[in-house]
Amino acid sequence: MSLTEKHKKLERNITLLAVATFVTVAIGGVVEIAPLFWIDNTIEEVDGVRPYSPLEQAGRDIYIREGCYSCHSQMIRPFRDEVERYGHYSLAAESMYDHPFQWGSKRTGPDLARVGGRYSDEWHIQHLENPQSVVPESIMPKYGFLKERDLKIADAKAMLKALKTVGVPYSDRDLEQAEADLYAQADPDKDAGDLAARYPKAQIRDFDGNPDRVTEMDALIAYLQMLGTLVDFEKAAPLEELAQEKGR
Ligand code: HEC
Repeated sequence: MSLTEKHKKLERNITLLAVATFVTVAIGGVVEIAPLFWIDNTIEEVDGVRPYSPLEQAGRDIYIREGCYSCHSQMIRPFRDEVERYGHYSLAAESMYDHPFQWGSKRTGPDLARVGGRYSDEWHIQHLENPQSVVPESIMPKYGFLKERDLKIADAKAMLKALKTVGVPYSDRDLEQAEADLYAQADPDKDAGDLAARYPKAQIRDFDGNPDRVTEMDALIAYLQMLGTLVDFEKAAPLEELAQEKGR
């Protein structure tokens, strides 16, 4: 019996065909799924990526509460137009401590993955208070009320502890210091202690232009100003080129 004859038999016997199809698909499935049980992490770690400081995390929670994600994405795709507009495309590692992640695809406003450091704090305050005062055609709503609201986190330690439960590597000292860190990062009168050592590149200053109190505006701007600033892409670039050359 020739091969085509044998195949004819397979094609015409529905049970045999179903079994053969199942076996074929199962092999494909095992090859793709099984390795995931043996590797610890599917994300390649990148130097500089660290968990959010309590103030940044609080700002992130405000960002989510206010629905900023309904108009802004936080993921730069590896396409030329995006990279030229927003900067280096996003790496998986950059959102490895995001719960929930903010990638999104809705871009009524621009992507914010690398907005950190692009504008001054004063610009952000003015823009959040009255977007149309800096971009006349903007349809972004006003968020000036954040400046009037004291930053209140019921339990900063619990906030970090919850994140630790889902895998964010906060140290015991981070948990212990959570409450102090939260306010010290935005209050020039407080001693930030070893905050900068535990959260490298953390920006410590008064963000909302009012040094007398720590407001939700402080937290939100602290978060916006750190977005995309943790990884040093200048340093990473030569390595990337090297990897490409090796691959060639
Ligand atoms: C209704 C949609 C909408 C919502 C909701 C919204 N924005 Fe915007 N945002 C825009 C648009 C449109 C622009 C571009 C015009 C401008 O700069 O105002 C923008 C611009 C920005 C920029 C400047 C980005 C750049 O690269 O120039 C920042 C920062 C920003 N928004 C932050 C926020 C934050 C934080 C929130 C939530 C508190 C928010 N936005 C909510 C629509 C929105």
